[in-house]
Amino acid sequence: MRRPFVAGNWKMNLNRAQAVELAAGLAAKAGDYGHVEIGVCPPSIYLEAVRQALGSSSIGLGAQNCHQEVPKKAFTGEVSPAMLVDIGCKYVILGHSERRHTFQESSQDVNQKLLAALAIGLTPIVCVGELLEERKAGKTKAVVQEQFDGSLAGLTADQVGKIVIAYEPVWAIGTGVVATPEQAEEVHADLRRLLESRYNPAVAASVRIQYGGSVTAENAKTLLSQPNIDGALVGGAALKVDSFLGILAAAKK
Ligand code: PGA
Repeated sequence: MRRPFVAGNWKMNLNRAQAVELAAGLAAKAGDYGHVEIGVCPPSIYLEAVRQALGSSSIGLGAQNCHQEVPKKAFTGEVSPAMLVDIGCKYVILGHSERRHTFQESSQDVNQKLLAALAIGLTPIVCVGELLEERKAGKTKAVVQEQFDGSLAGLTADQVGKIVIAYEPVWAIGTGVVATPEQAEEVHADLRRLLESRYNPAVAASVRIQYGGSVTAENAKTLLSQPNIDGALVGGAALKVDSFLGILAAAKK
């Protein structure tokens, strides 16, 4: 069975004190949600402070992005996957829609980062999702498939077995317009069929597929009870202890 995985994407929010307070608040309660794998992805500059605040809790630390080169190099302003491991990260979000659309990252870029992250032992959370106009034009399936194939190009079945996929319809991110459980489940089922046809049934059965986009403590239960939705990638509702805990409580046992 796939263990539910809920991760908070804090994006460019909070200051140091707020990040530490949130992490400590979650760490104090994480033990009540042992059926869920939990991750938090603070801004990279606060990773160390958050790691300390998480202490020995079961919450895993994640980054929101990384560069595609593992070894040190002259890339001013970038953070390497090796540095993320060094500071205690377990996860890295790759190909988030804000990276794809605001920073023009292509699926090929995501693929390079994914290979680098896997090579050093990080668990990548690979995001895919369509724009509103793409959904309206009936292109959701094709867009998601293109992002899936491009981002995962060249990976072995064994490597794919180590990743997490997040389906995040762009129109649902930060808008308060959540996908209906049926809309989300349809794409999740498509993704699972892709995992089976491109790799094998064991990979399809084991890879977790999170839903992301305006998940709240209120709407999480119906979303997370869908057969192919294995958790959530949460933005706004991950910034407060109570709302994030509410989402953890909604994850299926
Ligand atoms: P949201 O963000 O929950 O604020 O919609 C989700 C995400 O961007 O991962």
